Amino acid sequence: MSKTFFNEKKEKLKLIKFIKNSEKLSMGKNVEKFEKKFSTFLKCKSSIMVNSGSSANLLLLQALKNLNKIKSGDEIGFSALTWSTNLMPIMQLGLKPVPIDVNLKTLNVSPENLTAALKKNKIKCLFLTNVLGFADNILEISRICKKRKILLIEDNCESLGSEFKGKKLGTFGFASTHSFYVGHHISSIEGGSVSTNDEKLSDMLKISRAHGWLRNINLNKRKEYIKKFKINKFYENYAFFDLSFNLRPTEINGFIGFNQLSYLKIIIDRRYKNFKLFNEASKKNNAFYELELKNMNLISNFTFPLLCRNKKLFRKYVRKFNINKIEIRPLIAGDITKQPFFKKYIKKKFYLPNTNYLHDNAFYIPNRPDLNRGEIKRILNIINS
Ligand SMILES: Cc1ncc(COP(=O)(O)O)c(C=O)c1O
Repeated sequence: MSKTFFNEKKEKLKLIKFIKNSEKLSMGKNVEKFEKKFSTFLKCKSSIMVNSGSSANLLLLQALKNLNKIKSGDEIGFSALTWSTNLMPIMQLGLKPVPIDVNLKTLNVSPENLTAALKKNKIKCLFLTNVLGFADNILEISRICKKRKILLIEDNCESLGSEFKGKKLGTFGFASTHSFYVGHHISSIEGGSVSTNDEKLSDMLKISRAHGWLRNINLNKRKEYIKKFKINKFYENYAFFDLSFNLRPTEINGFIGFNQLSYLKIIIDRRYKNFKLFNEASKKNNAFYELELKNMNLISNFTFPLLCRNKKLFRKYVRKFNINKIEIRPLIAGDITKQPFFKKYIKKKFYLPNTNYLHDNAFYIPNRPDLNRGEIKRILNIINS
């Protein structure tokens, strides 16, 4: 990203005025306003804002543990092509991580990959990453999970706004997480959220987001807890009910996020337009594998992946982008099981041929909403070459 927010100049002026006139900047009604507007966009019952997408992942898993939906030692499936902090909380919370290979052309876990993993593992929960705005057959994955009583949760930090068969990614599972870091679909500088339709989970997320206390859940439910645990009046505000962190966002994040949500559609449209141009160009060049995007009727993509057919081509195109001073990056973090932190704690070897291939032969290129014509042309020239 070249800027912290969309429409940055105007939004920064609004922010200055907001800070000048605010009596309170710690979490309050602006965060709540953001949460409501975000839930309306996602068409879900509740969203709990936190200070990053990574925190959202950590919080979700802790809340599921607190509710006994998962317990220490349970096997948690995850996409081998993902970001570090999708996997790290699985390890930090004493759960057993089971990497699942992705489909080479969708970059996502497919029903076939999941079924293969289920033959070898007793997966209790699948923490699926929706990679770069795409999904494989997520509907079939959710059916398999239902049938096998596997709790499906989505890390949708890279796919806010994408739709599979008309349904938004981030609404296929029991809960989903999002990131509002600068480079993502909308920015609240740092920020994230967990969304769900489940009331109990929603309450537990609020409890675990802040110290384990009840201050952010509704009054009647608070009374129930206080009665159940026989908390006396003096301790009502200082009783801590379950394992938690402090992952609260500030009013500044809530205010910015709320305003940025108004631009989400424009941001998605612009990036989708760029995406189509890059995709059409890459399809015509034999150096790259074609992406398979069946049933994706809206792709909210924030960087475009180029999947080179071999290492020689990979080196060639990396060089071309470097010479032209266009920033490129590995595909998320590549095969996450190759990362030092994973090797430090998990000694087992996994067979992940597609993710492995992508680790060595793929990279991604920019797809910012403010790419200008000249920049798009420079990128297209390289893809076409
Ligand atoms: C799949 C995925 N999950 C989680 C995160 C973490 O989000 P944040 O940077 O807001 O902590 C990222 C970050 O890029 C991501 O790609």
